[in-house]
Amino acid sequence: MKELLEQIRIDAETLFESADTIAQIEELRVRFLGKKGELTSILKGMGILSESERPVMGKLANDTREHIEQLVSDRTHDIAHKMLATKLENEKTDITLPGRKPSMGKRHPLNIVLSDIKEIFLGMGFEVAEGPEVEFTENNFDLLNIPTTHPSRSKQDTFYITDDIALRPQTSPVQVRVMKDRMPPIRILAPGRVYRRDTVDATHSPVFHQVEGLAVDKGITMSDLKGTLETFAKKLYGDDIAVRFRPHHFPFTEPSAEMDATCFVCSGKGCSLCKGEGFIEILGCGMVHPKVLANCGIDPDEYSGFAFGMGLDRITMMRYNIDDLRLLFENDIRFLRQF
Ligand code: DAH
Repeated sequence: MKELLEQIRIDAETLFESADTIAQIEELRVRFLGKKGELTSILKGMGILSESERPVMGKLANDTREHIEQLVSDRTHDIAHKMLATKLENEKTDITLPGRKPSMGKRHPLNIVLSDIKEIFLGMGFEVAEGPEVEFTENNFDLLNIPTTHPSRSKQDTFYITDDIALRPQTSPVQVRVMKDRMPPIRILAPGRVYRRDTVDATHSPVFHQVEGLAVDKGITMSDLKGTLETFAKKLYGDDIAVRFRPHHFPFTEPSAEMDATCFVCSGKGCSLCKGEGFIEILGCGMVHPKVLANCGIDPDEYSGFAFGMGLDRITMMRYNIDDLRLLFENDIRFLRQF
């Protein structure tokens, strides 16, 4: 029996040594120490031993069992340790890799120019107002004193949804909304998208952008208009530019004018941008027509005002020397990255 125990011990040592998974260890544990295991069956056979042999063999068997239990725990520990080491090795992060640069968006050129324009007018006490792009015919035309015979009202020029509703062809209806909504003093700037039935080419698009302005108060005169708009032009293009006002016609202003500024490319000498004029057109403007004030519930005998409207796309194209309007709407990232 002593030899048998010795053999079991030797076998166990070799087998445990060559086991390399937790499952194999468990299998060996059952084989040696389980209820039907090799050691158990020997312990069961102790009955045949003599009184004097029994304690000696008992101790030996217990030692063997303890030894095997130790093997189980040592090898389990070794294997667990090895598995962890492999896992750590496989999942190692290479902290020497340079980080990935987050890709930052940029402002659209239209927004860069718009925020310059806003800043100039906010500095002069104007506030930003908004109106819907889908607008009532009444606000688009009627209340702005635009007669039913005016070409801009035709279905060839304006996108009608019903006879009473259309995509706004200008930002001027925002003036109407503000005046109907509150009493002077009013000083607002209304930027936004506008729509006209134009075929797309380098200078036309069915959707483009305008910035509208309106100031209404007691005693506002044409000199307030000129001073405000000249200040705006100088802040946008530089102190050394000059402006000029040419008489014009708009149904919602009387008198009306267009404002030109010294060409910023040739400084007035004449070039291809200004077509030899030395000036470039910046905006349309005028004194708010008394009928428009009255249409919006403001007494023209008590109040007066001036208004203006400019094309944001054109101003942006001139600023950055962009020769095709379509570039502003195509959202080609290679173009937009340049600003
Ligand atoms: N709404 C005009 C246009 O689309 C621009 C304009 C001119 C607006 C004169 C005004 C203004 O407010 O006073 O051409």
